[in-house]
Amino acid sequence: MSEVKMEDIVSLAKRRGFVFQASEIYGGLAGFYDYGPLGVELANNIKQLWWQAMVREHDNIFGVDGTIIQNPKLWEASGHVAGFTDPLVDCKSCGARHRADHLADTDSTDLNELKELLKDKACPTCGKKTLMEPRKYNMMMKTWVGPVEDESSISYLRPETAGSIFINYENVRETMRAKLPFGIAQIGKAFRNEISPRDFIFRVRELEQMEMQYFIKPDIQQEVYERWREFAWKFLTERLGIAEDNLKWHEHDVKERAHYAAAAHDIYFKYPQGFKELWGTHNRTDFDLSNHSRVSGKDLSYFDEESKERFTPYVIESSVGVGRMLLAVLVDAYHEEEINGETRVVLKLAAHLAPYRVAVSPLLKNKPELVEKAKEVYQMLKKEFGNVMWDDNGNIGKRYRRQDEIGTPYCVVIDFDTLADNTVTIRDRDTTEQKRVEIKDVISSVS
Ligand code: GAP
Repeated sequence: MSEVKMEDIVSLAKRRGFVFQASEIYGGLAGFYDYGPLGVELANNIKQLWWQAMVREHDNIFGVDGTIIQNPKLWEASGHVAGFTDPLVDCKSCGARHRADHLADTDSTDLNELKELLKDKACPTCGKKTLMEPRKYNMMMKTWVGPVEDESSISYLRPETAGSIFINYENVRETMRAKLPFGIAQIGKAFRNEISPRDFIFRVRELEQMEMQYFIKPDIQQEVYERWREFAWKFLTERLGIAEDNLKWHEHDVKERAHYAAAAHDIYFKYPQGFKELWGTHNRTDFDLSNHSRVSGKDLSYFDEESKERFTPYVIESSVGVGRMLLAVLVDAYHEEEINGETRVVLKLAAHLAPYRVAVSPLLKNKPELVEKAKEVYQMLKKEFGNVMWDDNGNIGKRYRRQDEIGTPYCVVIDFDTLADNTVTIRDRDTTEQKRVEIKDVISSVS
């Protein structure tokens, strides 16, 4: 199949109600997107799968749901006030601001290196060679807590969900009587004032993350790191069904790593704009807990009963964005196929991810006896699966095409034969084959 184009994904997402530009009627707001009726179903399915695999299937991983705004000292201790920066370069002529590393087409964020690479570059906005020296720019979004807007009331919208995991480490350890190794997981919003949000929902300013911090004794860091890398790969290929050819590993070199990481491996996905970061596994060492101990004055060290040693736990982190995962799922599932001289667009989503598992249609909507029977089948399926669509709009061909585009694995059609022999037609999205099945066997046929 030919390469998937971003404009096709953006168009499908809007046309079928997966993703809309935020504030669209006011001209939008760069880096912000809303999820529509189908997008929210797909995103919820993805989040539930991750929660199931990460929390429910591990006896020693516990969930939390922390606030977006915390005491700003958290972000001083975590190094984000000083170090959560991207390199930017301003144009003296037109005032445009660009990500210096993107413009220089490099993974490096080293300012000297970037200065050298950008020496002869023109500003992509005005075309003039008037770029200034690259500098660091802090991406945290600021706000004020309380009625007075001064320095003392400044706080930040969290740039990563991990922060509220670290500061709840002791609460969770105590309440769950947890012993190392154990993990804390969270799904929630994070905010980054990205210099150049781009590529649809790939790089946004308001994002949602699924993160897990695994607290360990330092001597097992390497094996645990490898295990969480493997978890991420298996989740993508086995639970989401993403093709291995669309994935590859990328190891961060020292210039690319975040300020807290001693090692980092990303899984890259083949997005329409090329292979880019989807999911990160990081070794954060004792960086976070040590700094929170130091700044808060609360001792976060751990006493190991077996070895009788006291130490600050190390952390292996697994971190992925919901939007990037949803985009990867859409791109991986998107197919254009020729059928009987016509092109059909079909989302080959795994059935457990699809916004609707099955659509139910009466062959003709102006025949009350067909509609009544179809409603019975619809109610039966709705009770079983919940996410079932009633579709009586347009002719059957149009309905199939609509359901193909939103990834509904099965369409059930009630026709005149149904009234005679209690059988229905089930049409399979991927093969387009149709078979006759008795109503009592429909649930098992679409399960
Ligand atoms: N706690 C570690 C952390 O936040 P990160 O590599 O900065 O690490 C983790 O982000 C994941 O969050 C990324 O792999 C990506 O999936 C997602 N992500 C980060 N920035 C994003 C953005 N601006 N828009 C969408 N997703 C983003």
